[in-house]
Amino acid sequence: MKKSDKSVGLSGDFEILIGSHKSCGIRLTAVEIPEIAKKHAILKRVRDRLFIQDLGSKAGTSLDDFRLPKKTWEEIVQNANGYNQIKLGKTPIGIDPQVFRGRPRVGLETTALYYQVSERMICNGAYLRAKPGTMTAIMGPAGCGKSTLLDLVNGYRKPKRGQVFVIRNKEAINLHRDYNQVREWLGYLPQDDVMIPELTVYQSLNYRLKLQFLGLPAEIRRLIICQTCQHLGFEARRLKKFLNTVIGSSESGIRGLSGGERKRANLAHELIAMPLILLLDEPTSGLSSVDADKIVRLLKKLTQLYEITTIMTIHQPSSDSFERFDNLLLMNYDGTVAYYGASAQATSYFERVTGTSSSGRNPAEYLLEILDNPYYNKQILESFEQEQFNHQFHLIMPHASFS
Ligand SMILES: Nc1ncnc2c1ncn2[C@@H]1O[C@H](COP(=O)(O)OP(=O)(O)OP(=O)(O)O)[C@@H](O)[C@H]1O
Ligand SMILES: [Mg+2]
Repeated sequence: MKKSDKSVGLSGDFEILIGSHKSCGIRLTAVEIPEIAKKHAILKRVRDRLFIQDLGSKAGTSLDDFRLPKKTWEEIVQNANGYNQIKLGKTPIGIDPQVFRGRPRVGLETTALYYQVSERMICNGAYLRAKPGTMTAIMGPAGCGKSTLLDLVNGYRKPKRGQVFVIRNKEAINLHRDYNQVREWLGYLPQDDVMIPELTVYQSLNYRLKLQFLGLPAEIRRLIICQTCQHLGFEARRLKKFLNTVIGSSESGIRGLSGGERKRANLAHELIAMPLILLLDEPTSGLSSVDADKIVRLLKKLTQLYEITTIMTIHQPSSDSFERFDNLLLMNYDGTVAYYGASAQATSYFERVTGTSSSGRNPAEYLLEILDNPYYNKQILESFEQEQFNHQFHLIMPHASFS
């Protein structure tokens, strides 16, 4: 807060009183805010979200000139243009955007990872280095090991060789060794969803929040659910309809959400827990290209707004979606790396290696066709072996101390 810096230094979740009384964590005088009550309002942070409640003050508390009903939680919403304006009585108070950040952002970095089942190598030296606020695509032919790689970095499977680190400030936390420390930061959306078909979207999300945040008031759960679904593109009337729809599934015979709605319901289940690293296994599969583009756009927006480290597998994104990715890991048939680097430079890299132009082509289609061609594939393998050798020297972030 600009009027009082007392809350800025707090990390983690908090509940803090605002008023003139000496027991208030944010104590303001009548000189600063003429109409301040002894106990005026209460500010609560849950991970990266802020909520405010007026405690029945005479002058009231308002958000964007809407006077809050007494003793009712309201979310202070942060968006690309800033956040709601808060007034105590008629006096606006400022909030430092850092107050929304309950936790430092984290990135993900691995060494070359190896994983085999029986004698067969499924992950053969693939690696990731992703910073907060960036979105990485993992692409490659069916069965090349994309889902397996996600399992290695979400902690479900342990690599036979290689390590996965979560990078927080100057610290590198070994994901498999200190899983309990990092699990709260990880969000993982599997390739096949696991929602209970008999529940409505609201019930399902509400259960998830109840399990995740014990003791969180029902009103705040409702705000988190509504806000998250609005972020996913459901406004007003559509939001109500969406939340009240039974999830359904073809196996259960219960008719419910459409394919696009189902994907977004799935995403909402991960987003309500406010992950810092979001791992998604084909969040767009089975969708029309228009719906798929919408999901990628949404994810990019959320990635930047909340500075999430987003990594997803994706099949044949449109040119529009492809351009939204910062980095691309292109995996080859045998679980090796065909390319890893800026997605904007992927096609020119393959043009150089193969001498085949990508002009006028959808980049993803072009890249997968190159991999599919046995003649080029040999060249790619040899070329990236050299490239990967060079990468070894960059694997460790300069500021991180690995243990
Ligand atoms: N536990 C396991 N036992 C045996 N084989 C496995 C196991 N897990 C994965 N595989 C095999 O490893 C290969 C890679 O599987 P993975 O699911 O990672 O591929 P993918 O790239 O995600 O494929 P898709 O694009 O079809 O989703 C496949 O051939 C799969 O059959
Ligand atoms: Mg897969």
